[in-house]
Amino acid sequence: TGYITIDPGFKNTGSTQSAITYLDGENGILRYRGYPIEQLAEKATFLEVAYLLIYGELPTQTELKDFKESITNHTLVHEDMKQFFEAYPSQAHPMGVLASMVVSLSTFYPESQDPNRSSEAVDLTIHRLLAKLPTLAAMSYKNAVRHPFIYPKNELGYVENFLNMMFAMPTEDYKPNSVVASALNKLLILHADHEQNCSASTVRIVGSSQANLYASISAGISALWGPLHGGANQAVIEMLDKIQADGGDLDKWIAKAKDKNDPFRLMGFGHRVYKNFDPRAKIIKKAADDVLEQLGVQDPALDLAKKMEKIALEDPYFVERGLYPNVDFYSGIIYKALEIPSEMFTVMFALGRLPGWIAQWKEMIENKEPIGRPRQIYTGANERDYVSIEKR
Ligand code: CMC
Repeated sequence: TGYITIDPGFKNTGSTQSAITYLDGENGILRYRGYPIEQLAEKATFLEVAYLLIYGELPTQTELKDFKESITNHTLVHEDMKQFFEAYPSQAHPMGVLASMVVSLSTFYPESQDPNRSSEAVDLTIHRLLAKLPTLAAMSYKNAVRHPFIYPKNELGYVENFLNMMFAMPTEDYKPNSVVASALNKLLILHADHEQNCSASTVRIVGSSQANLYASISAGISALWGPLHGGANQAVIEMLDKIQADGGDLDKWIAKAKDKNDPFRLMGFGHRVYKNFDPRAKIIKKAADDVLEQLGVQDPALDLAKKMEKIALEDPYFVERGLYPNVDFYSGIIYKALEIPSEMFTVMFALGRLPGWIAQWKEMIENKEPIGRPRQIYTGANERDYVSIEKR
């Protein structure tokens, strides 16, 4: 008890100490475990970064080999899980499917519910999650397009295996293009953690009740789905398509975004913490240029996005509020060039963010943090007597 302060949206409230991700919003700096995001995106593989986030250090060759081997061993999901997919409506959003499938994993591995299990058992759950999320993500897509599921192929790398499960057909092999695989590797790394954001805080708070890791990650996936968080990447591409279909009059849409009586916001603009620029957006913008050029794709959405960025960056409304393109602004353009459908964009974000969620959960458990339980200031009715229904 004591004096309670209210901080809507936790804009100025720290929820924890953390040694995972360093973020300086004023200067646009992002580091995982001390390593600048620019170096990791350029040089590392996604699994190396996952290991770094979860275990605190970059893996040695042997550690990475063992980590990969363990993950590769767990890529299959239980055959019975296939039946769940049949029950979803054909238009089911893959994020809804993914969140349900991830919490369902806990029913197949009931030992994950024991809060006192050994660290080896925790590692097994972590490896299972990293192994199975791409499989479930690809299954949710195949289910949506009513194509047969493609089983994981263990000789492929993490990213290539995911692409294969997405795009191969039983009748036709899919040859993952190296430009596509490397762009996806980069995108997953850029999304891998972002300190105490909405979904990471959700994972920590759900986990703080000692709910199992699958349940905690499923809650994180649900939090990520919202258009103000990870769902923004799908919303960006839909916004660009809509503006184009409407004749491409950017001034009109920017005026709408500035109008306080109009709920429209420029999706992919603004960030709670970055007020000068989002370092991830800088890397992604360049990657979008490279990927489109290398794949020989002409996407008018990219030109529109660049024009929109230019106008917004010069407009006092956006300048005064520190609204810059965020990570989601250009990522959808790359996913589109990789032929990933827009309903899958937020799922791609979830695949990338998984190691961050796991690292956040693990740190919370290892620090023995108490159950998350914010307080409130009550503003409801004073005490009053029950009135029987006939007298109301
Ligand atoms: N378009 C137009 N106006 C905006 C926008 C936007 N995209 N974002 C913020 N504003 C305005 C907002 O209306 C407010 O104006 P005023 O001070 O006059 O009332 C001011 O800027 C501050 O906005 P806020 O909503 O109080 O800021 P926040 O820190 O609570 O919200 C945000 C941050 C990211 C939710 C918000 O900028 C937004 O809704 N952006 C669009 C959605 C988006 O791109 N989300 C992805 C975020 S990055 C990846 C991730 O987190 O998953």
